[in-house]
Amino acid sequence: MRVLVTGGAGFLGSHLCDALLAEGHCVCAVDNLLTGSLSNIAHLKNEPRFVFHEADICGPELFTFGKFDFVFNFASPASPVDYSEHGIATLKVGSLGTMNALEVARRSDAKFLMASTSECYGDPPSEAHPQKESYWGNVNPIGSRSVYDEAKRFSEALTVAYRRYHSVDTRIVRIFNTYGPRLQMNDGRVISNFMRQALRGDPLTIYGDGNQTRSFCYVTDEIDGILRLAHSDESGPVNIGNPNEFTILECARLVLRVTGSKSKLDFCPLPQDDPKQRRPDISLARAVLGWEPKIQLEEGLKLSMQYFQEVTAEMPIAA
Ligand SMILES: NC(=O)c1ccc[n+]([C@@H]2O[C@H](COP(=O)([O-])OP(=O)(O)OC[C@H]3O[C@@H](n4cnc5c(N)ncnc54)[C@H](O)[C@@H]3O)[C@@H](O)[C@H]2O)c1
Repeated sequence: MRVLVTGGAGFLGSHLCDALLAEGHCVCAVDNLLTGSLSNIAHLKNEPRFVFHEADICGPELFTFGKFDFVFNFASPASPVDYSEHGIATLKVGSLGTMNALEVARRSDAKFLMASTSECYGDPPSEAHPQKESYWGNVNPIGSRSVYDEAKRFSEALTVAYRRYHSVDTRIVRIFNTYGPRLQMNDGRVISNFMRQALRGDPLTIYGDGNQTRSFCYVTDEIDGILRLAHSDESGPVNIGNPNEFTILECARLVLRVTGSKSKLDFCPLPQDDPKQRRPDISLARAVLGWEPKIQLEEGLKLSMQYFQEVTAEMPIAA
């Protein structure tokens, strides 16, 4: 199979490329390196079934890379730090970029998988906890996170429209907080923040009182769920995430234990629209994909340790 992965030099995109190559496919990764890095795909330099193009998927270049059997659309700034800095680019890639990727799929008669997000649920009320795919979300359309949340909701709408009006065989995955090797260190996400701070002996930043909850999925589990969805007839959206819920405080203490760090905790004001609780209901993924995560947080942190240690060691002291 000939596969296109947009955002292929990113954290998840590069792991997806690895998994697709391991399945025996030919992979074309396209990335403008806005938030990704060539170091994520450096190990594929001599892989004959892999090709990389540096290009913005919002532009016409995307139509020059040939035909595909499957398009995975992963391009988008993904962390609060990145989408705050690149707000317009985030809206563009979720709209123009996703439309281009869908057009490539339509013209190739390819299947299409959209990497959507739990952020589509916004800040859910307690009666919508944990979040099922049928919950429509509670999103502030003009808040600071709206560039990302609304871009992804629009991407979902585009994806189902291409299915409805153009009969493209589409799938939507709603990815919940995922971590592991190649996660950007300065992206403001909980695990990378805590690991960096703990390994440097800096205080761990807790926003609010730390009682807000998150769930964390290890990257190999996430990619396994995404590939199962890709190979299934389910169009989704399907939640893929780890339903084991931790308060931010519990997560901080676990990071301190795994790293053996003596860092203190530093409490800061809660940012605007920060969701108070977030946990996937994965009954659909269990039922239709036979999927559930295997790696729990402590084990996943240990598996990621070497990566975080190496990257932290390379960082300038003041970073
Ligand atoms: N990591 C998570 O926890 C998580 C959670 C929910 C959803 N997602 C989604 O998964 C996808 C990958 O996220 P990630 O965590 O790997 O982030 P990432 O920032 O590491 O990867 C995104 C990649 O997209 C590229 N990109 C951005 N705009 C582009 C454009 N216009 N043209 C070409 N490339 C472009 C970036 O350079 C980067 O390499 C994103 O769509 C994100 O919204 C991730």
